[in-house]
Amino acid sequence: MKKALRYLLITLGVIVVLVGLAAAFIAFRGVPKGEAKKIDLKVEATPARVAQGQRLAAMLCNSCHMDPNTGKLTGRKMDEVPQFGAIYSKNITQDPEHGIGKWTDGEIAYLLRTGIKPDGTFLPIMAKLAHTSDEDLYSVIAFLRSNHTWVTADNTRQPATEYSFLAKFITNAGFIKPSAYPTAAIPNPDTTNQVAWGRYIALNQLECYACHSKDFTKNDYNNPEKSAGFFGGGNKMQGMDGKDIYTLNLTMDEETGIGKWSEEDFVKALKYGQVPHGPALRIPMIPYTPLTDNEAKAIFAYLQSIPKIKNQVERK
Ligand code: HEC
Ligand code: HEC
Repeated sequence: MKKALRYLLITLGVIVVLVGLAAAFIAFRGVPKGEAKKIDLKVEATPARVAQGQRLAAMLCNSCHMDPNTGKLTGRKMDEVPQFGAIYSKNITQDPEHGIGKWTDGEIAYLLRTGIKPDGTFLPIMAKLAHTSDEDLYSVIAFLRSNHTWVTADNTRQPATEYSFLAKFITNAGFIKPSAYPTAAIPNPDTTNQVAWGRYIALNQLECYACHSKDFTKNDYNNPEKSAGFFGGGNKMQGMDGKDIYTLNLTMDEETGIGKWSEEDFVKALKYGQVPHGPALRIPMIPYTPLTDNEAKAIFAYLQSIPKIKNQVERK
């Protein structure tokens, strides 16, 4: 009996030491680094690409990089994710010193696809356009190079980000990790097939499922349909007032999802934040105003094609 207790204590002691060492290692190592491959790319800035890029930036970049004080993508402190540390999104205007004026198209493409900067730094809290079409990616780059006021040079400088232990832990444990740079061309969706078009927008382009499934850490970013509670909502986020806010069930379950909504109800909710029952939708759900009605309807058609999930999420 005494012997058993001794072994137990020794085992516990060893575990405590190992956990301590692992924690010290993670704290010291920080967010792991990757390696940026050189991508040979020169994006031709056609007016169509600049226009599409602006629409995508409005829905994919502004929420984190737009500073209301400058009216430009000069970055800001990201108070909505305090658990990950003191995070500052960066100045991505064309300023050569404080923005991304000196980056090549290939460097921007590599970061947007994978999350890895030219110097190998991995950015865990960043949009990843890992599965968007090449054309959409080029459109974002063309827009960043355009003379639109959001992106023309501004010398605002943001402080360096300091990641919390939690951020270091989840990146070291591989819950959030760089995506692979695609090895084959990614075509635009077939817009004559409404469900395929909606699937592309909801999964590959605007990643609705990433917020609207059960938990960020249980999403499968390479096979979105395998994410836990796919589109069933209940993912905990933080609202503007610092209080918890839960994403809602977007499956067609009649009781707990949006199964009783009309197509028109859905378009209104998505583009303007107005829902049939209850107050307007709040941040972090943004009004996707730049979407055309046909795009919004395509998303609705796609949501009608996926399995229903019974999951009641209360709006608080
Ligand atoms: C969820 C918030 C978020 C979204 C959405 C987002 N970013 Fe970022 N971005 C960040 C943060 C935070 C950093 C800096 C992280 C750090 O310092 O570790 C960053 C850094 C960058 C950088 C590197 C800048 C530098 O000088 O190091 C570029 C380029 C960039 N973002 C472009 C974009 C583009 C283009 C979009 C839209 C397609 C976008 N980001 C969407 C949060 C975001
Ligand atoms: C950054 C996370 C995030 C993303 C991305 C996101 N949503 Fe949301 N969404 C939310 C949150 C949070 C709510 C709940 C807001 C509230 O309670 O006020 C919500 C609510 C909704 C609702 C209202 C549902 C209801 O029952 O009232 C709809 C519809 C919706 N989102 C559709 C979408 C679609 C379509 C996309 C992709 C184009 C999307 N969302 C992307 C976070 C997100």
